[in-house]
Amino acid sequence: MSGPRVMCVGLACVDIISVCKNYPEEDSDQRVLDFYWQKGGNASNTSSVLSLLGAQSEYMGSFANDNEMRFLKEDFDSFGVSTSHCVTYKTGYITPTSVIIVNSQNGSRTILHASKNLPEITLEDFKAVNLKNYKWIHFEGRPSFNTPAYEIVRMLAHIDEYNHSVPESEQVQTSVEIEKPARPELDQLLDKAKYVFVSKDYSQNQGLRSKEEAVRGFIKRCRKGASVICAWGEDGAAAMDAEGHLITSPCFPPERLCDTLAAGDTFNAATILALAEGRDLAEAITFGCKVAGAKCGMQGIRGLKDVKFS
Ligand code: ADP
Ligand code: FRU
Repeated sequence: MSGPRVMCVGLACVDIISVCKNYPEEDSDQRVLDFYWQKGGNASNTSSVLSLLGAQSEYMGSFANDNEMRFLKEDFDSFGVSTSHCVTYKTGYITPTSVIIVNSQNGSRTILHASKNLPEITLEDFKAVNLKNYKWIHFEGRPSFNTPAYEIVRMLAHIDEYNHSVPESEQVQTSVEIEKPARPELDQLLDKAKYVFVSKDYSQNQGLRSKEEAVRGFIKRCRKGASVICAWGEDGAAAMDAEGHLITSPCFPPERLCDTLAAGDTFNAATILALAEGRDLAEAITFGCKVAGAKCGMQGIRGLKDVKFS
């Protein structure tokens, strides 16, 4: 790999997926069309797509010491994603798991997520990372019951401190994803990174009704010089830079919608890669939408390796 070195910090979990002929009725009984396990979690998915697109990719998060963790680690290895800074909790911890229904009619994904007791990465864990080796570090804004979102604030402040001590050309670019709605503690992340990815759910929960309204609303709460980016499902994506320029991209629908699971994580990966390679915001979100659209036409993400993107 010769692409930029990018780290993603956040969740890795097991996704247990049933592909259904129709979305099920409550208390009904149907035989599914397909069933499989897949590595999931936003940061994990984003790091895998980054690797498929040619970045030198690393995932940092917590692992339990169970069979599910071994499944996840093997999968990271098969994608060529380094897990060398992950923290493994020895006994009594359980790998987070999602039970997911994919509707074969329209590719929708319904996620039932369980995170039982695994703590998130803290600043103390993160201090083991030698920042000089990274071009970009992306954080999934993930609050959990036993690790406050404030740990992400501390890690981003640690990178800021490093960036102040080195020439601009050696600085680490930062991004943060704020996805989960109705989690007010995530608001504190809005002004802590250079690029802020806000989701449709998070925006709608704050009364913003479109991708344009979302980026206009959130840019005011970002730090000076930052850009905000918002993917909006079939409506593509928008971004706003520090000068207030509004940029939009349509979505690029596949011939047939197959599986929209991790479309947002794929969008983030492709957008980050394009920006890390020096492309501008408009090119980056358009590339994000192209790669995410292609992903929606295939099961999982591995097939992205064989797609040629313009
Ligand atoms: P998620 O719900 O996975 O967080 P989004 O629904 O916001 O993510 O979608 C992320 C990106 O994926 C969108 O900007 C779009 O480019 C692409 N995408 C999502 N759904 C579709 C779809 N139905 N058709 C084509 N592209 C889609
Ligand atoms: C998709 C995803 C899944 C995971 C869930 C966690 O974006 O990362 O892989 O099960 O979200 O919220």
